[in-house]
Amino acid sequence: MNKDIVCIGAGYIGGPTMAVIAKMNPGRKVTVVDINAERIAAWNSPDYRLPIYEPGLEAVVREVRDRNLFFSTDIESAVKTSDIIFVGVNTPTKMFGRGAGRASDLQYWEATARNIARWANGDKIVVEKSTLPVRTAAAMSAILNTHEQYHFEVLSNPEFLAEGTAINDLFRPDRVLIGGAETPEGQSAVAEICELYAGENGDWVPREKILTTNVWSAELTKLAANAFLAQRVSSINAIAGLCEATGADVDEVARVIGADRRIGPKFLKAGPGFGGSCFKKDVLNLVYLCESFGLHTAAEYWMGVIRMNDHQQERIVSRLFAEMFNTLANKKIAMFGFAFKADTGDTRETPAGYVARLLAEEHVRLAITDPAALENARRDLKDIGNVDYEADPYEAAREADAVLLMTDWAQYPQLDWRRIYASMRKPALVFDTRNCLDASALRELGFKVLNIGKAGEGVKSR
Ligand code: NAD
Ligand code: UGA
Repeated sequence: MNKDIVCIGAGYIGGPTMAVIAKMNPGRKVTVVDINAERIAAWNSPDYRLPIYEPGLEAVVREVRDRNLFFSTDIESAVKTSDIIFVGVNTPTKMFGRGAGRASDLQYWEATARNIARWANGDKIVVEKSTLPVRTAAAMSAILNTHEQYHFEVLSNPEFLAEGTAINDLFRPDRVLIGGAETPEGQSAVAEICELYAGENGDWVPREKILTTNVWSAELTKLAANAFLAQRVSSINAIAGLCEATGADVDEVARVIGADRRIGPKFLKAGPGFGGSCFKKDVLNLVYLCESFGLHTAAEYWMGVIRMNDHQQERIVSRLFAEMFNTLANKKIAMFGFAFKADTGDTRETPAGYVARLLAEEHVRLAITDPAALENARRDLKDIGNVDYEADPYEAAREADAVLLMTDWAQYPQLDWRRIYASMRKPALVFDTRNCLDASALRELGFKVLNIGKAGEGVKSR
């Protein structure tokens, strides 16, 4: 068995993960393949115009690309020449048939498994990197091991990195999880992947942070970890509405709750609700799994996390409506930030997208600005009219009735808010859904200010 690696899927997971694996294992050849030729061309672009925006990524790719990291559309050759195959293809929510709107759409996954079986020319370790329903490895193994000649050992190695901090998360993970069968072949494959994460010089992930489990625990842990994180965001957002109604301040409440070491301070920031490609998809997947096993109360519980999240975005529009004299038609609203969080250009499931659509229904004139996600915003909202896309936030805010801050980009608090105030229609409103601006300084300039989880300007809605 050679130690070369192929990763099928060159997206947000495949690209950064393999770049760091290649850096920490210079003796291994790592090839990332994809059916999307445009994406592969971007990974290979001479001027490093990579297909995803991620701080620190370009520096790693510059170091390893064409040294021991390669990007290609030739999936067949890469599968033939590598004995370790990571699969990081997308697993979106299924939008048709049984389980529509909840279950994972596994068609890309199964297509990949069949291709591996077709092209393999020796024994392989197949590593699930995508997030999958529990027991997918059993289906994968069943498809692969129809092969008469070769043996395929299927492992689960889910990824816990967050976008915007992916490179740091990869270099210094809280833990790496590797699930394998409790057979000699399974355990030897697990040991092989443990060695990979330890790094060629033993200077990457400390052994005690590489956790091993059986395959089913690994698959379920990934869904459970995302569900717990999403649930914390929904919990604090459920407190936020109560703060607005009572005069409590959600940031103060979160600070004190988080000082309890049993709870901890992270993921307690109230805001416009969680976005991103995974939280909603993975919680819905958990709901579907619970339902499939007849665990209806557990399914209801997790569904509540999604309902609370959707409600948070509706509440933003209701509060704007109430504050802006119960009519938004023809008013100009400057949306500051469209990415689902700062430091990424990713707009999948972004709360800003839902809010933009709700505002479009009210015939608002929207001006959207974002330092990294403007092109994605234009693509996502191409079916709605009356939207301007402005790279310059000052231009977006000109003649606007309100600024609606949706993403906590570090540059927004640094803007010249006096200049913004002077260029807006009066009364000028700022709705800071991330509570990242200095509200009292804005009020001194003359702005009306709304926050999430803090008493507003007078009108409160639930
Ligand atoms: P993505 O859409 O950015 O990338 C997936 C890539 O797979 C695409 O480029 C697509 O063209 C390619 N692909 C699909 N079918 C293929 C096939 N048959 N052969 C070759 N390539 C194929 O998705 P992503 O964000 O990288 O997510 C991938 C998986 O990783 C998902 O299961 C997701 O839940 C999981 N994950 C994502 C993150 C994240 O931060 N984005 C974090 C942890 C886990
Ligand atoms: C999340 C998890 O954090 C990763 O561990 C996981 O690997 C990944 O999903 C995945 O499986 O794809 P990500 O979605 O990139 O990572 O970003 P997060 O930092 O988790 O933020 C998710 C959303 O929750 C964002 O919209 C963010 O603004 C929101 N959020 C987060 C809050 O509103 N409040 C918080 O306190 C934290």
